[in-house]
Amino acid sequence: MKIVKSGTIKLIGLLLLGVTLSVHGFSDRQRADIEERIQPAGAVCLQGDSSCGVTVAAAGGSGKSADDIYNTNCMACHATGAAGAPKMGDVAAWTGRMDKGIDQIYANAINGINAMPAKGLCMSCSDDDVKSVVDYILDNSK
Ligand code: HEC
Repeated sequence: MKIVKSGTIKLIGLLLLGVTLSVHGFSDRQRADIEERIQPAGAVCLQGDSSCGVTVAAAGGSGKSADDIYNTNCMACHATGAAGAPKMGDVAAWTGRMDKGIDQIYANAINGINAMPAKGLCMSCSDDDVKSVVDYILDNSK
């Protein structure tokens, strides 16, 4: 009886020692691996922060480039001239419109005019996004 008891205690002692050793036995490499694995799945990216790999677009912008927005939202009308839209690349059509001034042209693209829908229906676009697409269209229509 006495022998069994002390044997049990020794066994428990050995087990504890084993656990202690394995906890402290990690190499730096293993430690780094574990730290990496227990990182939160989604790091929080703040607006304007570029530390997350992608820059988060400021204040309501779509975060898309001008030619992306053009291809998604404007091309359907402005590449074909649908509904009487001035075509991108049609120098005469755009030069005629420039008389009213660039600010009026921006405003018409943002608010819509006749068959031109407000923001070309790009609801995630900020005013500045739309302006940059207008610049993009004008640059390609000189
Ligand atoms: C549903 C077709 C359609 C879509 C989509 C569309 N447009 Fe237009 N857009 C028009 C038409 C039609 C006009 C000519 C309106 C007029 O002067 O009567 C026009 C005119 C314009 C003008 C000239 C405004 C002026 O003052 O002369 C700009 C700039 C413009 N669009 C930019 C854009 C941009 C940028 C997009 C995409 C974000 C876009 N459009 C999407 C049909 C469209």
